[in-house]
Amino acid sequence: MSWNAIDRKTVPAEEMGPGISEATKEKIRSFFPRYPSKQACMLPALHIAQDELGYVSLQAMRDIAQVLELPPAAVMDVVSFYTHFWTHPRGEKMLMLCRSLTCELLGSEKLRARIEEKLGIGDHETTPDGKFSFMTEECLAACDHGPCLMVNEKMHKCVSVEDVDRILDDPASDRLDIPRSDTYDAPPKA
Ligand code: FES
Repeated sequence: MSWNAIDRKTVPAEEMGPGISEATKEKIRSFFPRYPSKQACMLPALHIAQDELGYVSLQAMRDIAQVLELPPAAVMDVVSFYTHFWTHPRGEKMLMLCRSLTCELLGSEKLRARIEEKLGIGDHETTPDGKFSFMTEECLAACDHGPCLMVNEKMHKCVSVEDVDRILDDPASDRLDIPRSDTYDAPPKA
């Protein structure tokens, strides 16, 4: 086994991807009072950046590092730990299929095969038209209604293979019936 060392200082500009906007930096800073240190704002900062760009580019990692006054490697450590964060562009609709035990026993493997067959992509890939990205994920916290498939923020429960085509063809399949979470919206000004 051998290791390849990558010197990030020499990454071509086009591979750095877009940076985060000033508004996003300001939104991250607005979270500082809620946390004991700037470093502790790492996860909200990554969620906010991914909300803006659709993924966390290398430039976004550098920008976050600068805002949090940390080395860029500290940001990359966290990004590479969580499957939730993407380091390359995602599609408009993010499909997250539960791969944990209960859903697997209830048939998630068949759903995975149908999704991969219908979209022509595998885990952590995006369709060429940019419409869908697909990933498998650990327990989505609805085990009693497995197998579960999330489309963006909307959870689909007790999904059958026959349901997959309907869900993928439905333009509203990612729309929540309740207001979306505002967990990572900026706190209201005092
Ligand atoms: S095992 Fe699938 S939601 Fe928990």
